[in-house]
Amino acid sequence: SILIVDFGSQVTQLIARRIREAGVYCEVHPFNTAEKALHALNPKGIVLSGSPASTLDDNAPTIHPDLIAANVPILGICYGQQALCMALGGKVERGHDAEYGRSEVKVEKASALYDGVWDVGTEHTVWMSHGDRVTAIPPGFEVVGTSNGAPFAMIADEKRRIWAVQFHPEVVHTPDGAKLYANFVHEICGIAGDWTMHAYRQRAIDKIRAQVGKGRVLCALSGGVDSSVAAVLIHEAIGDQLTCVFVDHGLMRMNEADEVVTMFRDQYNIPLVHVDASGKFLGELEGQTDPETKRKIIGKLFIEVFEEEAKKIGGAEFLAQGTLYPDVIESVSFSGGPSVTIKSHHNVGGLPERMNMQLVEPLRELFKDEVRALGRELGLPDRFIGRHPFPGPGLAIRCPGGITAEKLDILRKADAIYLDEIRKSGQYDKIWQAFAVLLPVQTVGVMGDGRTYEFVCALRAVTSVDGMTADFYQFDMNFLGKTATRIINEVRGINRVVYDVTSKPPGTIEWE
Ligand code: XMP
Repeated sequence: SILIVDFGSQVTQLIARRIREAGVYCEVHPFNTAEKALHALNPKGIVLSGSPASTLDDNAPTIHPDLIAANVPILGICYGQQALCMALGGKVERGHDAEYGRSEVKVEKASALYDGVWDVGTEHTVWMSHGDRVTAIPPGFEVVGTSNGAPFAMIADEKRRIWAVQFHPEVVHTPDGAKLYANFVHEICGIAGDWTMHAYRQRAIDKIRAQVGKGRVLCALSGGVDSSVAAVLIHEAIGDQLTCVFVDHGLMRMNEADEVVTMFRDQYNIPLVHVDASGKFLGELEGQTDPETKRKIIGKLFIEVFEEEAKKIGGAEFLAQGTLYPDVIESVSFSGGPSVTIKSHHNVGGLPERMNMQLVEPLRELFKDEVRALGRELGLPDRFIGRHPFPGPGLAIRCPGGITAEKLDILRKADAIYLDEIRKSGQYDKIWQAFAVLLPVQTVGVMGDGRTYEFVCALRAVTSVDGMTADFYQFDMNFLGKTATRIINEVRGINRVVYDVTSKPPGTIEWE
């Protein structure tokens, strides 16, 4: 495995993804507990992440000496490079010309880091994001690549097997980055790329059986990919010791609730309790317009309804959750205080403690794309696995302002037409998420000979790799025109359609 030491970069998780994509298991640990993780994991290589901190600050995070003493290959990224320099006797200074964004590195000398990927003398596009820079390299190192802003863009001590780069090979803006990571883990660290979902499936089943024994497990099924894959996997491990509870809040898309129930009951024969709580949810949401209040009401009600059902079922000591690795990674924060809450995400957090249940989390080690691969491995239909993410609070956050059953109905119809057009035009899989939003605004229109005064529907589609950042999707105008016409013609209550061209940041993907 590979140990990734997190110094707090926004993109540390992407390092893990690139390494996993190369078929190698890795874990991310904060710099201040990395030495403990080193001894537990016994990794064959170490990657040091970037950071928003400066090595020149007091209390700047440093590399624990055990990491260097471990004598396994090390790759330092950005801050990781600077921290290595500080630790090994080089020099770092505040940069006069900080580099942000695309840059070109020139390969000056051969190095194992890019052997077979880049040739000496060639130039390559990379993504830089740094203020400080290395100004003197430690003894034993040599410069193997340069850029305009960073004369020490790539340095190496081939003997000690330490490499360090100023740019970020983990981001997509460094086109050859994935190859560099693959080269590092396969060729330099000597790890075979055999971390596959086929192997994972059996290991996970054994683990679930060992944990649960003859006990009973409840699973809160949301209809999303994560909880579904978790449920199918657990069912494969322990059969009918598993009961799924699907709390239907009435905020699902067109036909979605039925599809979930049919798939699990009929296709997988998984015991499933379908609780139709839509009346309760809509009742409590009535008149609520504040996004955070709406989210909190939904989260609270979800827990209440689930708890009630669990009592009825009785006797389960385990709760299954589709927790993913990104939720588990302890993040390193330099903001000086707790980070700002942009949105309170809806999940089943808090449930296990309240109900005194133990957690079964078979996806804890996986990234989203790995969960999808596992789902395929388990035979879940591609159409289901490939579905765009759907937020826990559902359509409630796609109806800015107050929610009514009528509005939800209008939104469902518009959304279904939009998605139908996207699928028919073969664009569904190119898009991370696409959905309609019903605005709490009415505008004047003309239809036939009459004046109309109806709602505005906004269409959103974004591309993204992880939902953390996103670009709006560039539809062809004819496609948008055709879709808008269909929505306005087929959905009573909408007379205007607009397209959202905001990226994230500064926008978020959802409107609330
Ligand atoms: P934002 O709107 O924050 O969304 O850019 C990022 C991703 O998260 C999804 N999302 C949620 N998922 N519970 C969820 O399970 C939530 O409360 C929630 N809010 C947003 C959103 O759809 C996008 O994929």
